[in-house]
Amino acid sequence: MRILVVNGPNLNMLGTREPEKYGSKTLAQINDEIKQFAFEKGIEVEFFQSNIEGEIVDKIQSAKGTFDGLILNPAAYTHTSVAIRDALLAVQIPTIEVHLSNVYSREDFRQTTYTAGVCLGQIAGMGDYGYKLAILALAEKLK
Ligand code: DQA
Repeated sequence: MRILVVNGPNLNMLGTREPEKYGSKTLAQINDEIKQFAFEKGIEVEFFQSNIEGEIVDKIQSAKGTFDGLILNPAAYTHTSVAIRDALLAVQIPTIEVHLSNVYSREDFRQTTYTAGVCLGQIAGMGDYGYKLAILALAEKLK
C-alpha cells in the first residue's frame, strides 16, 4: 500500500509557526514519525509540501495510478480552494483530510472546508497524531 501525504501553505514553518496552535515539531520530524509508523504497518509513504495551490493540484493529479490513498492537510486552502476540491474529485483516490488544530473551535472562516466533503473523512484537533490516525484509517479502509 502506498500513501501520499500532502501539506499545504505555511506548514513548512511548523516548529516555529504559532506553536501553541500547531505544536513544536518541525514538518521533517513529523514526517519521520509518520514514515516509521507506516513502515511498521507495511505501508510506504511519500511526502509533498507546497505553498502554491497549483503545485498541490498537480501533485494530486499525478498521484492517480501511483498511490492508493492520500492524506491531505490543505492548510489555508482548505477554506478557499475549489481547485483542490476538483482535483480530489478528478482522481478519486481515497483521502483523509487532516488538521493539526481543531478548526471548529477557531475563527468562523476556518469552519468552512471546500475539501472535506469529497474526502472519506476528516481528523482535526489531534495535533500531529492526526496524521498517524489517518494512516490507520486508510489502512483499514483500503484493506
Ligand atoms: C490548519 C488549519 C488551517 O485553518 C490553517 O490555515 C493552517 C493549518 C491545521 O492544520 O490546523 O495553515 O490546516
